[in-house]
Amino acid sequence: MNRFIYCLMVFLQFPLPGLGQTLENVTKLYDDLFSSYRNNIIPLNNQSEPIEISLAFFLLSINSFREVEETLVLTGGLSVIWKDASLSWNPVDYGNKNSLEVDSTDVWLPWIYLLNNAKEFEPVGFDSAFRVNINSSGFVQYSPGSILEAKCQTDISKFPLDTQSCLLDFLAWGGGATTYKLISFFDEVNLDYYTKDSNWEVVTRDTYAKLEPEGYYKFRMSLSLKRKPVYFIVMIVLPTMLLSLLNPLVFLLPIESGERISLSMTVLLSYAIFLTLVSASIPASSNPMCFLLIVMIIIMLISGLTVVAVIITTKLYYQEEYFPGRIVKFFLYRKTRNQDVTPFDCEKKEQQSFNGKNVSNFLDRLFLISSYVIIVITLVVYFLYLNT
Ligand SMILES: *[C@@H]1O[C@H](CO)[C@@H](O)[C@H](O)[C@H]1NC(C)=O
Ligand SMILES: *[C@@H]1O[C@H](CO)[C@@H](O)[C@H](O)[C@H]1NC(C)=O
Ligand SMILES: *[C@@H]1O[C@H](CO)[C@@H](O)[C@H](O)[C@H]1NC(C)=O
Repeated sequence: MNRFIYCLMVFLQFPLPGLGQTLENVTKLYDDLFSSYRNNIIPLNNQSEPIEISLAFFLLSINSFREVEETLVLTGGLSVIWKDASLSWNPVDYGNKNSLEVDSTDVWLPWIYLLNNAKEFEPVGFDSAFRVNINSSGFVQYSPGSILEAKCQTDISKFPLDTQSCLLDFLAWGGGATTYKLISFFDEVNLDYYTKDSNWEVVTRDTYAKLEPEGYYKFRMSLSLKRKPVYFIVMIVLPTMLLSLLNPLVFLLPIESGERISLSMTVLLSYAIFLTLVSASIPASSNPMCFLLIVMIIIMLISGLTVVAVIITTKLYYQEEYFPGRIVKFFLYRKTRNQDVTPFDCEKKEQQSFNGKNVSNFLDRLFLISSYVIIVITLVVYFLYLNT
């Protein structure tokens, strides 16, 4: 090869062509490295020092978040790098071969466990096969990937505008800080290979390693996920608001139309059916309970009370005399007797203002306004709570 081009390639750090690197060279390298290698002894020259293990986390996808079981399921990979004292060589002796890929069972591996695991307990990546890459200075890179299920405490009180945060703790099981020292390679989860999720958006993704007071290192990944709320707003929140605002309108219907009770029953029933339909998509968890469900129950309660109120006002409407009217009349009668007005006048006057029709109209207005006030206050409190 032209020497000038070769120098240029070295200078520009292009990958160098083989340079006489043959299968024989690599086989010899493998034999030299592994003929007396023991893959279950920590590869450290000074065994009284901890082995330094650098970790990075690659998030590939978020598979599901099970609110009820408080479990986050994700696919991810760890990138683990450590220095193996017995796996270094001089590349010049092996045709400039400066990295070697071998099966992960050939070398010593740190066993990294997910501490808050919700599945089978085994080191990350032990359910499938991965290869490791060794470079000539003895650094081994191992990138096991797996479907991880982690236990995370959920808080769905702000559903559907909630953000869930989840901590994934990794540790080298069995050895304290005197055996393993975990180091975080980056301070963020790597999203280079991430497939976007349509339900969750990654908000924060910190990683750090820390020494626990119990005397071991922990590699912690702190993930917060924000729910994408459009579906739930369109399918649950808006119909709830619509039905709740529709309900008190029955008090505007004239009683003579005879439609009042059927309308209020229809609204109540459609609301109940709606509630059964959507309750499947609302996460059922009681600690803390979803605030939206409480709002829906309050609206349902108002709907039920509306039916009662409609029946009462309809009954009153057709009644000649309102029952409390008699009590009022009693007092009026006593008052007017002192003032020398004939009881007859008084009774007439009183009957005008206290006949069932008037009382029923008055109650209609009272119920209409008060149910709107309660609904509006409930909705406002809900939206204020979502924004805290
Ligand atoms: C091994 O490491 C310990 C702790 O760092 C140190 O005290 C000791 O001298 C080292 N031994 C050798 C042989 O280097
Ligand atoms: C690589 O192997 C070839 C034989 O295939 C041998 O001639 C050569 O010397 C080897 N290179 C080195 C650097 O050992
Ligand atoms: C081997 O890998 C380590 C860690 O990635 C790096 O620091 C070192 O420079 C590499 N050595 C060679 C010869 O490439």
